[in-house]
This record gives sequence, structure tokens and C-alpha cells, in this order.
Amino acid sequence: MKLVLLGAPGAGKGTQAKKLIEKFGIPQISTGDLLRAAVAAETDLGKEAKSFMDKGELVPDSVVLGMVEERLGQDDCQEGYILDGFPRNSAQAEALDEMLGSLSMELDAALSVDVPLEDLMKRLTGRRTCRECGQMYNIYFSAPAEEGKCDKCGGELFQRDDDKEETISKRLEVYNQQTAPLIDYYQEKGILKSVNGTGGIDEIFVSVCSTLGL
Ligand code: AP5
Ligand code: MG
Ligand code: ZN
Repeated sequence: MKLVLLGAPGAGKGTQAKKLIEKFGIPQISTGDLLRAAVAAETDLGKEAKSFMDKGELVPDSVVLGMVEERLGQDDCQEGYILDGFPRNSAQAEALDEMLGSLSMELDAALSVDVPLEDLMKRLTGRRTCRECGQMYNIYFSAPAEEGKCDKCGGELFQRDDDKEETISKRLEVYNQQTAPLIDYYQEKGILKSVNGTGGIDEIFVSVCSTLGL
């Protein structure tokens, strides 16, 4: 399965991608995760990206495209991949098509996870992530048994720097202006699918799988 996951910040792209990895072993390529890893490692790329991420703006295409191309070239992506958080604007979508065409790795589907705007703020302000294993929690919807501690591995839970209300508002604005138009882009290509992203995580996963024919 060669898939793009589309959806607003907090729609559950990362949550559903993790379930697809678990069940089908398809690798997830999250540009947000790759950028956060570069920020944490204090690489030149990470230093450049951080100022944009902290403001809730998109990191320049030149930075992101190189990163994605390198990742898609790795062995584990040759049979399939899930792009999560990429592409984010029409320039990235066009560059991706070109890249995939030359690698003969064309997309099977772009899946839009649809969640009403009013649900997103709580999902994002409540998100906590395990520093050790990456497991995601939400203090409002899926809290860990012990505050601040991962149920799976005991690791410390942290809150993302860009999950502050002010930055979230900016991310939502950027999504509406630059990313939402990609729904039409993939619709015109005939590969758009969509699922209702409200309800329980497992219930949504069932719709994701059936919508994708998995
Ligand atoms: P990125 O990391 O991609 O963030 P995002 O798109 O804003 O999306 P999120 O990761 O916040 O949400 P998600 O849909 O993955 O939701 P999740 O599953 O975590 O990007 C961050 C920044 O990096 C950008 O602002 C930009 O600066 C930069 N960047 C990244 N890619 C880029 C690119 N291609 N070009 C340029 N810049 C780029 O779920 C959220 C919460 O909700 C969790 O707590 C979860 O537990 C909970 N939840 C999930 N499902 C449910 C449910 N069904 N019910 C209740 N709660 C739920
Ligand atoms: Mg995510
Ligand atoms: Zn953990």
C-alpha cells in the first residue's frame, strides 16, 4: 500500500499510521517526526526547521523534499509506505508526483481523515507522547494509568512544543489555506478516499482498513 494520509493537525494521522504499521508492517514516513528528530539532534536542518515549527508555519519545501526523497529511497519503503504530514501544499504534491514517477512508486490512495474543527483543539492540547517508545496519549480521551508515565514502557511523557493554543491556531490556519486544497488535487487524480475521523480510535481504524480495501 502506497498511501498519503491527509488531515488537519490533530485529526489522528499519526495514531492511525501507527496502527497500520502494527497490523501490516507498512513504514510510516512522518515529516513532522523526522523534523522533530532533527531538531532534537540539533543538526543544521533541525536548527533551520525549528523557527518555523515553533511559529506553526510550514518548513521550507527545499528542506522537506530532500528529507522525503532520502527516506523513500530506503529499502523498507520499496513495497509500500504511509506518508503522514506530507505533502502539505501543492508544490510538495507536485514534487512528490515527480519523485514517485521517477522511482516507479506511484500512490495507490490519498486518505483524508475528516474531523470537525471544534474537536481538534482539545485533541492537540491534551496530547502527550512517550519519549522512549513514541506511544501517544491524550489526557482528555486516552489518559495513561499514571500521570506523566507511559503504560507500555514506563517512559516519560512530554507535550510537543507546538501544542500550545496560540501555535495550534496558526497550524490550523496554515492547514486550511495550504493543505486542505490537496483534497481536491487528489480527487482530480481519482485516488482520493475519506473516512470519518470522529469516534473511537479502533472504530476509525476499522473504517480506514475497509476504505482502503485492506
Ligand atoms: P506534524 O507533526 O505533521 O503535525 P500536524 O499535521 O499538525 O499533525 P499532528 O501530528 O499534530 O496530528 P495528527 O493528525 O498526527 O494527530 P495524532 O494522531 O497525533 O507537523 C508539525 C510541524 O512540522 C508543522 O507545523 C510544520 O512546521 C512542520 N512540518 C511537518 N511536515 C511538514 C511538511 N511536509 N512541510 C513543511 N513543514 C512541515 O492525534 C492527536 C491527539 O488526538 C493525540 O493525543 C491522540 O491520542 C488523540 N486522538 C487521535 N485519535 C483520536 C480519536 N479518535 N478520539 C480522540 N482522540 C484521538
Ligand atoms: Mg502527527
Ligand atoms: Zn513508552
